Amino acid sequence: MLSNQTFKIYHTLPHDFSIQNCEQRQEPMRVLMCTPVYFDIVDVKNIYMEKREVKLDRNKAIQQWESLKTVYQNLQKNDIIEELLMIDGARGCEDMVFCANQTFPWQMPDGEKLVVMSKMRHLSRQAEVPYFEEWFLKRNYKPLQLKVATMFEGMGDVIPHPGKRLLYGGYGQRSDRSAYTELTSILNVPVIALKLVNPNFYHLDTCFVPLTEHAVMLCEQAFTAEGMAMIRRCFEQVYLIPEEEAVKTFCLNAHVIPHSDNNKNTAIIQLGSKYALAALIQCGYHVYEIETSEFMKSGGSVFCMKMMVY
Ligand code: ARG
Repeated sequence: MLSNQTFKIYHTLPHDFSIQNCEQRQEPMRVLMCTPVYFDIVDVKNIYMEKREVKLDRNKAIQQWESLKTVYQNLQKNDIIEELLMIDGARGCEDMVFCANQTFPWQMPDGEKLVVMSKMRHLSRQAEVPYFEEWFLKRNYKPLQLKVATMFEGMGDVIPHPGKRLLYGGYGQRSDRSAYTELTSILNVPVIALKLVNPNFYHLDTCFVPLTEHAVMLCEQAFTAEGMAMIRRCFEQVYLIPEEEAVKTFCLNAHVIPHSDNNKNTAIIQLGSKYALAALIQCGYHVYEIETSEFMKSGGSVFCMKMMVY
């Protein structure tokens, strides 16, 4: 048993830490999306929303969201994902369409389904969380609340190592470091805590994309030297994506879907990246390039417009 690596939050890795010792994990294969009817930009929650002169085209946004939905429908037809699920966007919740942020769903080794509810940094986003709690309750998840942390933004900041019971947790902008002390004990899984130091990368899902058990693509400028050292211990291959490409194209918000049948490995990414696209292709991914420009105005792209659920 590997119990010495559970219940742990890491800020540096001990010499005896090894990915091989982390328990295996099955990837969730269902996709949840949130309808975009009330999507809007009403205030500034991140650096991308500061460009007030850039107006949102709501019709275009809805078309772009529909195109992403069509991609997932095709993936379902081809057995690449199991099912596409929907939650209705709520009036007054202009950011609810970014449904990677309100929760962190997790399955225990015995099959029990848990969901950690987020504590959104912005007041206007806090109203989104109860809608998700209700949705997960209906699907037999057990909701869990963090007691100490004041900020935690779910899958926006927590990304699992492919195929392993190991989490990477970004903190410093939208989630508190203390959230991971709680997460590691309530989910019984080790967490590698990564401080996010660059406002261009305010969630972990804007700068860090695990590609396989052995490879990751990321933007080095988002992390501290200690963070990079931990990441390099966990992945043999690190594809470095230039900051300019990551900011311009949101390519590090790609949705990568590793499949048990390697021929079905699929990724969805905003159009226009060069380095990230090359990394995906080199790792054997079939890539869908789509347009998410209207959502990028709000600071999000593919990865945050969906949630992977069990
Ligand atoms: N406007 C939203 C916010 O600032 C965008 C969230 C994007 N989500 C993400 N996981 N990057 O909260």
